[in-house]
Amino acid sequence: MIKPALVSLVLALAACSSDPAANDASSCDTLTLSYDNFGAAFMTSFCNDCHSASLSGGQRQAAPTGIDFDTHEDVLARLERIRARTIEGTMPPFRFPERPSEEQLADVALWIDCGAP
Ligand code: HEC
Repeated sequence: MIKPALVSLVLALAACSSDPAANDASSCDTLTLSYDNFGAAFMTSFCNDCHSASLSGGQRQAAPTGIDFDTHEDVLARLERIRARTIEGTMPPFRFPERPSEEQLADVALWIDCGAP
């Protein structure tokens, strides 16, 4: 049996995997995700152990210097790459112990496609 939650996830992923400009604008009008209630915690959980300006040298685990996601501005400056690497599953790197859930991936794609408010 296919669970309704799975169906809506697949639909959400399908809606977001295409050209962001083609994303149904009405889903952004009703978007409840924000940097404050979602984005900041997502980046903290899955990205900032390596991508933070507070880290240096080996603490960055080879994350390039200057690619940091400490603030909303940092994230807005690199939305396209954050979306690409996160959705293709290559960030966080496979060696990182935490992985975003399917629901978190769908949410991050939708949030970014709506401009990551
Ligand atoms: C365990 C450390 C680590 C974590 C956690 C991590 N990264 Fe990275 N990141 C790297 C390394 C190493 C590189 C350089 C190698 C590469 O690009 O694969 C990198 C490079 C990048 C780049 C620049 C290259 C490009 O493709 O534009 C982006 C953007 C990026 N990461 C996004 C993210 C995002 C978004 C997250 C969280 C979802 C994340 N990273 C989590 C280590 C990490």
